[in-house]
Amino acid sequence: MLIAFYSMTGNVRRFIKNTHLAEQFDVHEIRANNKEEPVDEPFILVTSTYGNGGIPGEVQSFLRVNHRSMIAVASSGNRNWGRDFARAGEHISDEYSVPLILKFELHGTPQDREDFIEKAGAIHESIRREKIQSY
Ligand SMILES: Cc1cc2nc3c(=O)[nH]c(=O)nc-3n(C[C@H](O)[C@H](O)[C@H](O)COP(=O)(O)O)c2cc1C
Repeated sequence: MLIAFYSMTGNVRRFIKNTHLAEQFDVHEIRANNKEEPVDEPFILVTSTYGNGGIPGEVQSFLRVNHRSMIAVASSGNRNWGRDFARAGEHISDEYSVPLILKFELHGTPQDREDFIEKAGAIHESIRREKIQSY
């Protein structure tokens, strides 16, 4: 399983780093120069939100190619944006029918990280079980 993330100003990058999930999973940063490359593993997407709840353009491009492998989404934002807080995650969840597992502010709190680690672990375990059952 992969954690794919997008970060423009570093908050999501810092969140991912502080979870230490790179020790357990492959981590893929979506950037302007790789946004249309296919990934060949199921992934959880973590993205920030820009412009009235919008999905960053790089993430939109990435999802056009890779949405079929997406298992879940988490999103960062800033509560100053009111109803548009971290709304990129809601839009992605609606458009691609994947669960929104976490909305967090900026680079997240220790509790946010704990929640994300727990959910990512549970998702990974359920994929592993499905694989075993399909043999
Ligand atoms: C121009 C601009 C627009 C933003 N729009 C939103 C928004 O609509 N909703 C929201 O929750 N946060 C919004 N934010 C806040 C970012 O999503 C937030 O700072 C996030 O943590 C950035 O993550 P990143 O540094 O990993 O890109 C905006 C920030 C900027 C600079």
